[in-house]
Amino acid sequence: MAEDRPLFIPVILGTTRQGRMSAHAARLMHEEVAKRSNVETELIDIAKVPLPIDDAGEAIKDPAFSEKMNRADALVLVSPEYNHAYSGLLKHVLDSCLEEYIHKAVGIVGVSAGVFGGTRGIQSLLPVMRELGLVNIFWDVNFSSVQDVFDESGKLKDQAFLPRIDKFLQELIWMAKTLRHGREHIPAE
Ligand SMILES: Cc1cc2nc3c(=O)[nH]c(=O)nc-3n(C[C@H](O)[C@H](O)[C@H](O)COP(=O)(O)O)c2cc1C
Repeated sequence: MAEDRPLFIPVILGTTRQGRMSAHAARLMHEEVAKRSNVETELIDIAKVPLPIDDAGEAIKDPAFSEKMNRADALVLVSPEYNHAYSGLLKHVLDSCLEEYIHKAVGIVGVSAGVFGGTRGIQSLLPVMRELGLVNIFWDVNFSSVQDVFDESGKLKDQAFLPRIDKFLQELIWMAKTLRHGREHIPAE
């Protein structure tokens, strides 16, 4: 049955900063998504999406990124908190597509040096998700004090994150399947 074909859930590493700790979180999320049965994934590093910064929006769409967003059933956004908001370059990359996202699921992973786990950045991303046509799930993963969560090689030190990630992915996959069913069977009018 068509409904049995694998979901595609890429993980987007949402910063280009040298020495970014979010890379550890993104790698872990990618590993955990890859363990799910009937789910395909890819780690997309926004530093490798070739977009100019002297223009913005769909005018600068990268065909490979656009194709991945078209294929995606859900996205995991790994979003570091920068000055109580999200990374500007993450938004720059997301802004390059629009139709590609409509009626697809998204889950946000906040990463911060401080104790709030990127929640302020996540809250500021929510209206952006809505405008892009993405449907945000009601779980987040919050890597607070991220410098204490991973060791220098990027290995997870705190195993308590694994059941949280599991719950987050369970909800994301449910939403991805539900929305795919809707996209494919229920006319949007
Ligand atoms: C420009 C900038 C602003 C930041 N603002 C915050 C902040 O508001 N709250 C916070 O907890 N950490 C803040 N941080 C620290 C990051 O959250 C921290 O570096 C964390 O590891 C996630 O970002 P990274 O992936 O770039 O490492 C900031 C870092 C930068 C580079």
